[in-house]
Amino acid sequence: MSAIGAAGATATNRRWTLARIPAGAPRDDDFALDEAPAAPPGDGEVALATVYVSVDPYQRNWMAGGGNYGAAAVPGATVIGRAIGVVVASRAPGYAPGDCVVANTGWQTAPVAAATSVERIDRALGPLPAWLSVLGSTGLTAWVGMTDIGRPQTGETVVVSAAAGAVGSVAGQLARMAGARVVGVAGAPDKCARVVSELGFDACVSHRDPDLGAALARACPEGVDVYFDNTGGRVSDAVMRLIVRDARIALCGLVAEYGAGAHGHDFRPLLANQALVRGFSVRRNLHRMAEYRALAADRIRSGDLRHHEDIVDGFERVPEHFRALLDGRTIGKALVRIAAEPAPR
Ligand SMILES: NC(=O)c1ccc[n+]([C@@H]2O[C@H](COP(=O)([O-])OP(=O)(O)OC[C@H]3O[C@@H](n4cnc5c(N)ncnc54)[C@H](OP(=O)(O)O)[C@@H]3O)[C@@H](O)[C@H]2O)c1
Repeated sequence: MSAIGAAGATATNRRWTLARIPAGAPRDDDFALDEAPAAPPGDGEVALATVYVSVDPYQRNWMAGGGNYGAAAVPGATVIGRAIGVVVASRAPGYAPGDCVVANTGWQTAPVAAATSVERIDRALGPLPAWLSVLGSTGLTAWVGMTDIGRPQTGETVVVSAAAGAVGSVAGQLARMAGARVVGVAGAPDKCARVVSELGFDACVSHRDPDLGAALARACPEGVDVYFDNTGGRVSDAVMRLIVRDARIALCGLVAEYGAGAHGHDFRPLLANQALVRGFSVRRNLHRMAEYRALAADRIRSGDLRHHEDIVDGFERVPEHFRALLDGRTIGKALVRIAAEPAPR
């Protein structure tokens, strides 16, 4: 773990940069570790000591040149992403050393950020890691996709892909709370088992099943009314064959297709069933965070909404944990802790 000095300042900023654009599945040598003196904050800025770094599928999409994430993915660029940091020095009104914030500072240990770009953390609402998972933008993503597009009704069947993951685990639980029958799709059999036993899904099918279509059809005997799509790929092929009239598909992500060639889908079932397909971006919905977070905090307190963070320690392990996430070897929200949490004040 990186040390936060006695004076509260880190002397060195370590960054994981792109050594090159990954071809196919990322490898450790696609990334390079860089060290430089930590910069002081300028006017309106805060200097941070990072505590948690988030690893996310969209970082693979960024590396493939997809989406619109601001900084370009070029060799030497700091890998983008969300993080939790502690303010160590501030030249911004309203921020003081010791404040915890969520920041878009990527994979680095001692970044500087504009105070207008960070979000203050209220630790009374939930523990720090939850602010990068269920109380943060991954939870908001699930809520936006499920409530605006999926709109599950009592008794309907909802399928969620990457169901054991950060977004999928919340999306499925929201559908369950709406009274729907919820079927997950995940990889390893133990993940599928946890989706049912811990998250309360009605069933979960492994996408490793050689006859995924038949397994899904057995789990969804009445067809699929709502599909919350986190993956694309062959999972979506199998789900789309089962959709019923007026089905809704919330197109959240395409992790099976990031960094791979485009996947050809058969859209005939969508036309025949007059289905709605809508992609969406959490970034256009960040202004709704407070509304979602209040609801989520309430549901967490009541025990209806469960969350899990898959945390490893050590800044050196960020690329390794990112690769584990993409390979399906993490469960819940994947995070890397790079410094001890400050004591709550
Ligand atoms: N629209 C938005 O604004 C927005 C915001 C955040 C995230 N997203 C998207 O939401 C999706 C989920 O993100 P997340 O952060 O919650 O990640 P996650 O689900 O925690 O992790 C990704 C999981 O996808 C599964 N997966 C990987 N390759 C797969 C494949 N070829 N086929 C089937 N499953 C595969 C793996 O789990 P298994 O073990 O189950 O295979 C992996 O652990 C991603 O596509 C992401 O880009 C969209």
